[in-house]
Amino acid sequence: MSIQVAIVMGSASDWDVMSHCSKMLKDFDISHEAKVLSAHRTPKELEAFISQAEADGVQVFIAGAGLAAALPGVVAAQTTIPVIGVPLIAGSLDGMDALMAIVQMPPGIPVGTVAIGKPGAINAALYAIGILALKDASIAKQLKAYRKTQAEKVLSAKLD
Ligand code: RP5
Repeated sequence: MSIQVAIVMGSASDWDVMSHCSKMLKDFDISHEAKVLSAHRTPKELEAFISQAEADGVQVFIAGAGLAAALPGVVAAQTTIPVIGVPLIAGSLDGMDALMAIVQMPPGIPVGTVAIGKPGAINAALYAIGILALKDASIAKQLKAYRKTQAEKVLSAKLD
């Protein structure tokens, strides 16, 4: 089976948060792989990973990074497959540095940017699932059911 989503992150230290992205994809039974590769530290290996992912049939890239966070933009520079960027907290600016770096892509090379940290990691997975759902009725059905469960939780909330 081909790999539907490729997750890449700049450091193993990002996995604590990015694992929530992988878990959500797993919950939806989406085939994916997760890899640590850095735009700054392993540029050649990153390039090879992107080519291989394209050959494997990947339909969405999710890239998480902290600090200067060039990774999502560098991935987007090398593919026309949609890239979702997750800004991570890794330094004294609490993820604002990564958010600004990822969201402020120059025109022509888009990166869809989600919230900082765990909420963003979860939403990146759901956004990727939404993209896959456009062409897969069974994924679309699962996504609708997931939304329904969320609505039910809100509507059944009991306050003390
Ligand atoms: C970024 O630098 C990584 O994405 C990570 O968030 C941050 C810190 O990396 P380490 O110093 O923990 O490897 O490239």
